[in-house]
Amino acid sequence: MKRIGILTSGGDAPGMNAAIRAVVRTALYHKIEVYGINRGYAGLLDKDFTPMNVYSVADILDKGGTILRTSRSDFFPTEAGQRRAAEILKEYKIEALVVIGGDGSLNGALCLKRLGVEIIGIPGTIDNDFGASDYTVGFDTAVSTAIEAIGKIRDTTFSHNRINVVQVMGRTCGDIALYAGFSVGAEAMIIPEKPTDLEKICEGLLIGKDRGKLHSIVMLAEGCGGYRDYCKRIEELTGVSTKGTNLGYIQRGGAPSHFDRNLASNMGYYAVENLVQGNTGVVICRVDGKYIAVELEEALNRPKKFNEKMYQISQVLAI
Ligand code: F6P
Repeated sequence: MKRIGILTSGGDAPGMNAAIRAVVRTALYHKIEVYGINRGYAGLLDKDFTPMNVYSVADILDKGGTILRTSRSDFFPTEAGQRRAAEILKEYKIEALVVIGGDGSLNGALCLKRLGVEIIGIPGTIDNDFGASDYTVGFDTAVSTAIEAIGKIRDTTFSHNRINVVQVMGRTCGDIALYAGFSVGAEAMIIPEKPTDLEKICEGLLIGKDRGKLHSIVMLAEGCGGYRDYCKRIEELTGVSTKGTNLGYIQRGGAPSHFDRNLASNMGYYAVENLVQGNTGVVICRVDGKYIAVELEEALNRPKKFNEKMYQISQVLAI
C-alpha cells in the first residue's frame, strides 16, 4: 500500500485531531503516503486534498475540532455521489480510506466498501451511540464539558431554590445525559432508553424539596425533546420555579480529555496496522479495554448496549 486518504465527517468531536495525528504518523512510519481530505465526503467529491507530512499533524493532539474540517454532504448519500467518490479515489491512486465519524459517516463508508473501496473506520462522535465500541472518540470530553457547565448551573439553581432542566446532545442516545447526570448527582434523568413518567419525576422532586433539598437538576437527552416544554410542565406540576439550559455546541469543542486522546491515538494506530496487514472493511472498536477490528456492516448493525446498572444506581443515589 502506497497511498491512503483520511477524512472526518459528520459532527466534529474532541479527539478527532488525535486520531488524525495517529493515522498520519503510523502511516508515515510504514512509508505510506497520506492525503488529508478536507470537509469530509463533500471535500472528497470536490477533490479538496492536502498531502500530509509529519509536520501537518504537529501540535494538534490537544486541539478540539478537526483540522481536516467536516461537513454533511447532500450529494454523497446518492448512488451517483458514491460512485463518483470511488472514481476520484481511484484517479488519485488512493488505495484505502480512513473515515473518522459517527453512524452516518460510517454508513457512507460502508457504501464505498460495497463499491470496492478499502475502508477502515474510526468511531468519532460525542454521542457514544456506536454499539460495537464501548466508547466513541469525543464522548468522554463532552461529558466532562457538560459536568463543568452543570456545576455552574447548580450554583445559581441553589441560590434561587429552583429546578433546572439541562438539555444535552446525543441524538437518540441518552449516554451523555446518563453519564453526566450520574457524575453531577442529577435528581432526575429523561433519556430515550427509559419511559418518561413526568408526574412521578415531579413527585420525587417534591419529596426532595420537603426533605430540605434547595435545588434540583433534571438531565434531559435531546432525543426526548426540547427543554422548554419540560420546564413548563415541571413548573406546573411542582409549583417550583423551573429554568432550562441547552448546553448545545459547547459539548462538541474544547481540548480532548486524557481518555479521548488515548482512545483516539490507539484507534488511529490500530487503523493503520490493520490496513498494513490487509485487514480492511473494518472499524476499530474498543471493547473491554482492548482494541479490535470489527467488520464494518456487522459493527453498524450491533445494537447499542444501555448502561442499565449506572441508571439504576443513579436512581438509588438521587433519592
Ligand atoms: O452527532 C453529533 C451531534 O452533535 C448530535 O449530538 C446532534 O444531534 C447533532 O450532531 C447536531 O448536528 P449539527 O452539527 O448538524 O447541528
